[in-house]
Amino acid sequence: MKIANAELIISAAKEHQFPGGVFPELALSGRSNVGKSSFINTVLSRKGLARTSQRPGKTQTLNFYFINDRFHFVDVPGYGYAKVSKKEREAWGRVMEAYFQKREQLKGVVQLIDARHKPTEDDVMMYDWLKFHQLPVLIIATKADKVPKGKWSKHIQQIKDVLQAEEEDPVMLFSSETAYGKDRAWKEMTKLLYS
Ligand code: GTP
Ligand code: MG
Repeated sequence: MKIANAELIISAAKEHQFPGGVFPELALSGRSNVGKSSFINTVLSRKGLARTSQRPGKTQTLNFYFINDRFHFVDVPGYGYAKVSKKEREAWGRVMEAYFQKREQLKGVVQLIDARHKPTEDDVMMYDWLKFHQLPVLIIATKADKVPKGKWSKHIQQIKDVLQAEEEDPVMLFSSETAYGKDRAWKEMTKLLYS
């Protein structure tokens, strides 16, 4: 996909800040530090657009990006980050729940899993929760550059097995380091946005 335009339109901390309009959108979900913001930068070919960090918990608001004047990407705060206080976590839980449950523009979720490891309990919980809300999920196993090629198919199978991924939810490898998987990711995301 050719990206003519990509801009952050709002970092929303509360539901009333979610942008209106009819544009379809995809949300990025995954553990803290898994590479959600890096994924956005790589697929949009915009290096510093989404802020990334080696320190987990960098993204703390729902960040809405408007792409080519046609659709939104939403960078969601990562889950499983222990240093956030219980009170903060609960407040966040409410905003996230409002978002995933009610957002009509939301066409699907890109769930990122670390390709190196077995999905965590949090990953499984998140996937189950998204499926409970009947959202289509594209499962991206990222940081593929850290896994030897000979082990790729084994790791993909493990992710499918542990998540008990539904047949219609694709599981694919990706790397923000090498941009491996970018074309397929766009193909799958376009399907989600426009079907
Ligand atoms: P939060 O905002 O805290 O939820 O994190 P995030 O999921 O947005 O992760 P982010 O994109 O900030 O990346 C976290 C770290 O992983 C950074 O140091 C990135 O450079 C690194 N990283 C992300 N994607 C890849 C990848 O595909 N390969 C490698 N080797 N490193 C990656
Ligand atoms: Mg982030």
